[in-house]
Amino acid sequence: MAKKSDVAQRADIAHLNSGLIDFIQASPTPYHAVRSLACELEAAGFQYLDESEPWKLEKKQGYFVIRAGSSIIAFKTGNDDLAANGFRMVGAHTDSPCLKIKPQPEINRYQYGQLGVEVYGGVLLNPWFDRDLSIAGRVDYRERSGKLSHCLINFEKAIAIIPSLAIHLDREANENRSINAQTDVIPVITQLAKDGSIDLKQVLLEHLRSTMKLKAAEKVLAYDLRLYDVQPPALIGMHEEFIAGARLDNLLSCYVGMQSLLLGNDKHASLLVCTDHEEVGSVSAIGAKGPFLESVVERIAEALVSASAESKRHILDKSIMFSVDNAHGIHPNFPGKHDDKHGPLLNSGPVIKINANQRYATSSETSAFFRQLCEVNDVPIQSFVVRNDMGCGSTIGPIVAGELGLKTLDIGVPTFAMHSIREMAGAKDTAYLATALTAFYNR
Ligand code: CO
Repeated sequence: MAKKSDVAQRADIAHLNSGLIDFIQASPTPYHAVRSLACELEAAGFQYLDESEPWKLEKKQGYFVIRAGSSIIAFKTGNDDLAANGFRMVGAHTDSPCLKIKPQPEINRYQYGQLGVEVYGGVLLNPWFDRDLSIAGRVDYRERSGKLSHCLINFEKAIAIIPSLAIHLDREANENRSINAQTDVIPVITQLAKDGSIDLKQVLLEHLRSTMKLKAAEKVLAYDLRLYDVQPPALIGMHEEFIAGARLDNLLSCYVGMQSLLLGNDKHASLLVCTDHEEVGSVSAIGAKGPFLESVVERIAEALVSASAESKRHILDKSIMFSVDNAHGIHPNFPGKHDDKHGPLLNSGPVIKINANQRYATSSETSAFFRQLCEVNDVPIQSFVVRNDMGCGSTIGPIVAGELGLKTLDIGVPTFAMHSIREMAGAKDTAYLATALTAFYNR
């Protein structure tokens, strides 16, 4: 018979993973992810702070700030001396590679209504074929009064598909089919009458007015819309060992980061930053290379310590950042893609990511800090170094380290199929990561 503690542990893992699955399904775009995070933070007593208003902060209270709807910083002020102890910070990103809809997307060929798409980030294009796709994102519109307004939209049901070319029409498809991102991945969304046409903005306006009951909407002016797979994430495997789903990179880290922040105690000042635009380099007003984090830390320093530039410096100096983003597990079919000694396994704990050329920000000091933390809390750890004959990915870690001089560690759960429309992670690794991050916030 299983020990009582094993049963409790399994229940905790199941709870965490079902929460993650719901979170990912409710978050087809970074806007939706931020809204999902904000809802849960608010329910836990965190207060929303407006960047354009003065801030009055209290000790032992949680707050969150949102920029442009797709980047969020949540923090707890704790009860510590902030200048002496700094923040325990966790960073992740809200965006994932995808296909975005172009501003003038309507295409009519052979009476098939199609939408032109732009590739966002390093999309693994192959898995996007033959999927049941929907559309979600942000719509900016004018109301009858002339006021500009915006809303989030999600069609939820499958309204688009990118059909493959049959193998009979391309006999070499399995040997050498390549994909032209301009011409080959244009989704079909409808079949038109002989003289028919589509007008996406009109479709959006009707959805706003009838489905979303935004009766004041008069004209759609602009949008930021993406395609996504309607198939929800799921536990996979004979014993449900794995999680398969879209956007595990990096909504898994956002969700586990938030759960850990909520589980952490009120002693230390702790912070979670989830930024947009990581997949395209992070340079933007709301990305990790922009001023968002620095400005929030500055304002917290002003409100809780003093307005001097020195107090912000002290806080940053004493802070430590865990940049959490998924790692590559060694793939059983492609073992040659990993260094023999650095092939992380799914369900064997978070991976410390190291790169001599600073594509990851981990140092010997931050690595030792994490190893010690995990040892004390019974969390297994693994490490990853890319092969010398291959290029290395990166994360927001080196960016925040470079911008703010923060002591930084790069970690993440091992996954397969990174940047596919359906990625895969270990079902136990979410719990290992949550244990490590909660312990970090509490330390
Ligand atoms: Co990522």
